[in-house]
Amino acid sequence: MNKQPIGLFDSGVGGLSIWQAIHRLLPYESTIYLADNLNAPYGNKSKEEIIALSEKNTEFLLNQNAKLIVVACNTASTNAIPHLRQKYKVPFIRIQPAIKPAGLQSRRKKIGLLATAGTLKSKMLSDLIQKIPTQDIDIIQQHGEGLVELVEKNKVHTPETYNLLKKYLLPMRQQGIDQLVLGCTHYPFLIPQIKKILGSEINIIEPSEAIARQTKRILEEFEISAPKKNKGRHIFYANKSIKALKVLLPADNIYYIKQINF
Ligand code: DGL
Repeated sequence: MNKQPIGLFDSGVGGLSIWQAIHRLLPYESTIYLADNLNAPYGNKSKEEIIALSEKNTEFLLNQNAKLIVVACNTASTNAIPHLRQKYKVPFIRIQPAIKPAGLQSRRKKIGLLATAGTLKSKMLSDLIQKIPTQDIDIIQQHGEGLVELVEKNKVHTPETYNLLKKYLLPMRQQGIDQLVLGCTHYPFLIPQIKKILGSEINIIEPSEAIARQTKRILEEFEISAPKKNKGRHIFYANKSIKALKVLLPADNIYYIKQINF
């Protein structure tokens, strides 16, 4: 049994989609969340920059006593995970686009992937595509340029966001996809708009529930779960602005949101 917190990081509020699923499944676990919004977005940075930021974030969370780290960002996971696992002893949970389940579920054998440039050009993604069991799946890849910034600015429900999504998604719909993989943890916050554009025929796949189950499995495997009677405490840090965190986290007396210089 271990009451130390689970650490999570992202370039901003995107990882909250993962945090919410983890908190629902493991309400007795404490968490520390770092939104590195001073350096957002990560998507257009080089692999080396993403690795350096991921190391810095990991060290911050380890200094706060994290027992396990969820890299709640596809861009950081797909670029930095092998490096982090080699350098630090703590267990890491990675997030990668769910193209395997999408491929298995696709009847038309055509899936869309919306992700950042950093994820789309990563070696981990091309390895993942090679490993899809049915090789004849057509994957239409689209860079969601600008979407992370709009979520960070709390502009989810604006015509600007809706029009940008239309620009990215309508061509995929016209090409006949039946699954859309959200390859960035910021995008689940856009699901209501995405559904309006794609209709009910196209299945939207995002990994937060699967990541929460994986986190539970790894905590059990390493025997570091908190006791079920534990009352979880949750601290959210941001190093530029806490505004977006405040909008997405409902007021609750188990949360602490703090601005830090880091
Ligand atoms: N939430 C991050 C991801 O999943 C966003 C990356 C960015 O900051 O561009 O990729």
